[in-house]
Amino acid sequence: MTLVANTKHFSPHTYYIHTFGCQMNVNDSEHIAEILHQAGLRPANSPEKSDLIIINTCAVREKSEEKLFSFLGRLKTYKKKKNIRIGVTGCVAQLRREEIFRKAPHVDFVVGPDNYYRLQELVFSGNKEVATAWHTDWRELPTPLKRTSPISAYVTIMEGCNNFCTYCVVPFTRGREKYRPLNLILDEIKKLADSGYQEIHLLGQNVNSYQDPESGQDLVDLLERVNQIEGLQWIRFITSHPRNFHRRLAEAMAHLEKVCHQLHLPVQAGSNKILTLMKRQYTREEYLEKIALVRELVPDVSLSTDIIVGFPGEEEEDFEQTLDILRKVQFDNIFSFRYSPRPRTAAARLPDSVPLEVKRERLVRLQNWQRNIQLAKHKALCGRVMKVLCTGRSKKDPSQFSGRNEAYQVINFASPRDVFGQFVQVKIIDYGPYSLKGELVESGEKS
Ligand code: SAH
Ligand code: SF4
Ligand code: F3S
Repeated sequence: MTLVANTKHFSPHTYYIHTFGCQMNVNDSEHIAEILHQAGLRPANSPEKSDLIIINTCAVREKSEEKLFSFLGRLKTYKKKKNIRIGVTGCVAQLRREEIFRKAPHVDFVVGPDNYYRLQELVFSGNKEVATAWHTDWRELPTPLKRTSPISAYVTIMEGCNNFCTYCVVPFTRGREKYRPLNLILDEIKKLADSGYQEIHLLGQNVNSYQDPESGQDLVDLLERVNQIEGLQWIRFITSHPRNFHRRLAEAMAHLEKVCHQLHLPVQAGSNKILTLMKRQYTREEYLEKIALVRELVPDVSLSTDIIVGFPGEEEEDFEQTLDILRKVQFDNIFSFRYSPRPRTAAARLPDSVPLEVKRERLVRLQNWQRNIQLAKHKALCGRVMKVLCTGRSKKDPSQFSGRNEAYQVINFASPRDVFGQFVQVKIIDYGPYSLKGELVESGEKS
């Protein structure tokens, strides 16, 4: 929809994309960059050096949305001085649409995730426009030639979600589930493997419900095909919904040699009362059964989860049930959040009953609890030698390299030679709650 037609012709030459949010947004930004590249634009490494600025946004919590508006605030004076175009893409674009222009009149166009195929036209049109129409079919975007990492790639296999958990805005920002054709996924991964990628992450809000639109083949069928691609070493998939996590997938994890023994299985809460209010469609007992199942078939599996504290109606005893899940499962990692009411969701109609200080206090207690679990787990790894994919340098200490093991744990390590992009053997010599520290072990060297 065109809001204001602008006849003033302006063609940007350079672009800068700022990305907030999840891995899917990171992957979307790579597609956006490819579309702009094909339109003749070149990347700039800061907003000041570019004449097109795109902000790819996340709406999952109120704080995520605020990040867009504080970023836009910083661009306001800048736009007065220089002729630039500003585009807002991603989940806030889809959720807030025209509202973004009211709050930030210096924005030129707003594009939701279903409409990136129209980006070229919006960039060059000179109009103020909103593109947020829903499409039920899969629209393939150009494969990004340049990605954030030259060794580990995100590959989207499905988009949207049909689950409507009562706290979650994603079904309103990404729409209903849409599946990418299997042959297109395989083509992309083959190209990635041929150009030296070692690891791929299959992405979707609910990857367990993947179905090839043509043949109906599912995630396990897809994993079997990806497992055959030469050159690739590690395959991961995210996110799984506990309700759709079945024995067949756990078996595939056990027997497909490239599929990492790592699973992210968001539990969100430990009490059945809260799980029902969240409409998660499983009980704590069923969740624990799935964990037992995956551990039975993949004994060394590394497990992580997402937790929300302070959901409406959560009382101390409900929260203790969440702590109890942590105690029982002994996750390798958790991502935890304070509940944040989101527009259009069912839970937003419930009174946000847990006071902010209680939410804060529960989050701290939860994180401390998990911190101790991770410290104990990491301690037990000291002295072990493990395979690590080196993904870069340590942020804190650039003299150290950084990488991940199969369990997806962060390992910072010393190496006398540059091992970026390589699989190496690393001996663990120290640890913290959130990462491990090690040193390179050369092949043939005794550990
Ligand atoms: N599709 C994934 C992830 C969705 S968003 C899944 O189903 O698990 C990532 C995480 O953000 C969620 O798992 C949840 O823990 C958190 N989250 C989502 N909505 C939230 C809200 N309104 N307040 C706080 N955390 C939220
Ligand atoms: Fe949101 Fe639930 Fe769908 Fe995950 S499964 S994206 S939490 S609605
Ligand atoms: Fe955020 Fe959208 Fe991802 S809301 S978490 S960017 S799907």
